[in-house]
Amino acid sequence: MMKTFALKGLTSAIAFSAIAGGASAAEINLYTTREPGLIAPLITAFEAESGNKVNTIFLKDGLAERVSSEGESSPADILMTVDFGNLIDLVEKGLTQPVESQALESAIPENLRDADGNWFGLSARARVLYAAKDLDIDSFTYEDLADPQYKGKVCIRSGQHPYNTALFADYVAHHGVEATETWLEGVKANLARKAGGGDRDVARDIMGGICDIGIANSYYVGLMRSGAGGPEQEEWGKAIKVVLPTFEGGGTQVNISGAAVARHAPNRDAAVSFLEFLVSEEAQEIYAKANFEYPVRQGVAADPIIASFGTLQMDTTPLTEIASHRAQATALAEKVGFDD
Ligand SMILES: [Fe+2]
Repeated sequence: MMKTFALKGLTSAIAFSAIAGGASAAEINLYTTREPGLIAPLITAFEAESGNKVNTIFLKDGLAERVSSEGESSPADILMTVDFGNLIDLVEKGLTQPVESQALESAIPENLRDADGNWFGLSARARVLYAAKDLDIDSFTYEDLADPQYKGKVCIRSGQHPYNTALFADYVAHHGVEATETWLEGVKANLARKAGGGDRDVARDIMGGICDIGIANSYYVGLMRSGAGGPEQEEWGKAIKVVLPTFEGGGTQVNISGAAVARHAPNRDAAVSFLEFLVSEEAQEIYAKANFEYPVRQGVAADPIIASFGTLQMDTTPLTEIASHRAQATALAEKVGFDD
């Protein structure tokens, strides 16, 4: 019942602002690196409810370069991408503008958005433990990865990949540089194979008996187990169990997909209303299920495959603070020869 009311309220609020603004339908230009299939259902729903039109420009990469080169005449209203590092890069390049919105602030946890409103997390992914099915393990800390009992048993991708940079940077935020170096040496000493490959290869190599445990992103389990990645990956997904690790005295490390309003957005108000729509219950459910990510809005259910991992207790370190340790994380991975 509550959900129906909330949606009706949102619909009429958008309809009202369109009329009150005097403009008929606005057009919003969305620049995104996300796969078209993930975004399409959201756009359809937003267009139907608001009467506005969304033009989508998919960019495999080079989002910042494109907007930069377009300069003041850029038609971009919204910049949508994955990884908080990419969003912070947009801010540092001066390509975003601050937005104040009660709807965005109340829907999105504080640590998953910029304090000045330059970017907002729209969905979350967690860095989780993949473990062999028969392994007797039901809780785990990131600190445990360096425990000598796991010598020769850990699989993980490159220590220079942005997913691990974010994890290592969060470790620095929790424990400082020196302790992180010691930890990384310990993790390196526990590796079953050279760090590398992708996150899904952790599941593959657990199935192949190369390793017992590894760290990888939560949504890949959805992509594998659902069969979206093909029958072979479905086997990998089913060969592992997932444990939500935490930092000692903290939570599970998360990253986001998110969006920013472009610095020179020609349709700023409509762009903000689209972002507000994206954190509505309706949109959060569509978005999270389409990409096997966690909704950022409280009370919206994740896909059943993702929900089966248990309740996510997110680490609450602000992403902006984690970002400030990225350079240290990269240097430490290099120093300990993580990928050698
Ligand atoms: Fe990924």
